[in-house]
Amino acid sequence: MNAARILVVDDELHERQGLAELLTAWGYQVETANDGLQALQKLNQDPPQAVLTDIRMPRMDGLELLADIRRRLGALPVLVITGQGSKEAAIECLRLRANDFIEKPIRGEELRQRLADVVSAQPAADSRLAGGEEFEFLGGSPLMETIRHELQQVAPTSASVLITGESGTGKEVIARLLHRLSPRRERTFVAINCAAIPESLMESEIFGHEKGAFTGAQDRRAGCFELAENGTLLLDEIGEMPLPTQAKLLRVLEDRRIRRLGSKSELPVNVRVLAATNKDPAQAVAVGQLRQDLYYRLNVFHLHLPPLRAHLEDLPALAGGLLQRLNQRHQRQVEGLAPEVLARFSRHAWPGNVRELRNVLERAVIIADSPMVQMRHLPADFGAAAAPLPEDEPGSVRVPVGTTVAEAERLLIMKTLARENNNKTRAAEKLGISLKTLQNKLKEYQARGAAPPPAASGNSAALAP
Ligand SMILES: Nc1ncnc2c1ncn2[C@@H]1O[C@H](COP(=O)(O)OP(=O)(O)OP(=O)(O)O)[C@@H](O)[C@H]1O
Ligand SMILES: [Mg+2]
Repeated sequence: MNAARILVVDDELHERQGLAELLTAWGYQVETANDGLQALQKLNQDPPQAVLTDIRMPRMDGLELLADIRRRLGALPVLVITGQGSKEAAIECLRLRANDFIEKPIRGEELRQRLADVVSAQPAADSRLAGGEEFEFLGGSPLMETIRHELQQVAPTSASVLITGESGTGKEVIARLLHRLSPRRERTFVAINCAAIPESLMESEIFGHEKGAFTGAQDRRAGCFELAENGTLLLDEIGEMPLPTQAKLLRVLEDRRIRRLGSKSELPVNVRVLAATNKDPAQAVAVGQLRQDLYYRLNVFHLHLPPLRAHLEDLPALAGGLLQRLNQRHQRQVEGLAPEVLARFSRHAWPGNVRELRNVLERAVIIADSPMVQMRHLPADFGAAAAPLPEDEPGSVRVPVGTTVAEAERLLIMKTLARENNNKTRAAEKLGISLKTLQNKLKEYQARGAAPPPAASGNSAALAP
């Protein structure tokens, strides 16, 4: 007997009943919903092991439901039923990270198999949410050890924590660890990305709404605070939250009560709030993007994750740990990095930080034809010449042995130019070359498409995942 509970979502009574009967006969526990919205309400109350959903439905269709599930419930397995031959729907399913999709007309045996696969995929998917690979915080350098120590100190409390660091430095890893190491670990961890939600929907996402609160609010709906009751709520990219919403959030943090949009009454909430941003929060306050009072309220404890270029000594440990995960994921056995690769990695600026490292290694693991990652497994721009170099001191250029003279020259020129605020005449003077020579060199670099050196300090190139 298979006791997994499946939520079947279809607006057509006959289809819904037919599917429910089939699944019950296969030993599943079945719940049903008429459309995406009703499904979400059921999911919020008590998530099943998997969702089987049709696409075309009134109010909220299957793809919107899928998107919402991924945003709120992470890896919950979803199997989508698509119309016959609908390529667009299939592509959308993949883009929105459905676990699988099945075309109409549905054949019983095929559905049984696919559903079983999707349901059995759950432990792996679940571990991502509840303590699997993504939870290990790798790196043993003094910088990482300090963070680990701070993490252990603050995790058991209910204090708000502000997590900062460039993109890809592990802010979400830290947030999930804070939850997992806290007494709230058995309750829900909810993450909401303020940069990914349209402004008009943000308040309803966070605080929920009553039926008819605004045009399109056809039903009442719980917000993130309610979903995270007794658990942890991560407000990601907090700097992207509109100022009026920030004001409301501050009140919630102070009063520990929320009011759904369109509601007259307030509900008490017990939620630990974490906030993350890849911007400098003090700077965001200075330019009026982040309310100062909210900043103080969130900043009870501050965890800052350094960019990877500031702890390159962690590269072997990070690469080792990431390779282990990736091996598992792709069923490979790549053991480590060839010495040249590690040397090359140590000279890279890693603007996308650990995420960039992970992506480079994932590519390598997939194409690897040897037990060690070799130079040929790296993306083309990891060729020796175009190496953007880490810079430690603002007024100097670091040139490790192994750099070509031409490359060292380019770095010095670009750095000098940056220091002279792009004033070519003054830069040429400092470099002791003629303006004409400088201009020619710049043209040459442009033609070669050589990357400019990393910005002086503070700002990072954001790398999309
Ligand atoms: N110290 C670490 N140990 C293990 N994995 C890490 C570490 N730091 C980052 N990662 C991995 O790097 C990737 C990016 O991490 P994460 O999503 O936490 O970054 P982020 O700081 O939230 O980035 P963004 O600002 O772009 O949202 C993930 O795959 C994560 O598992
Ligand atoms: Mg993040």
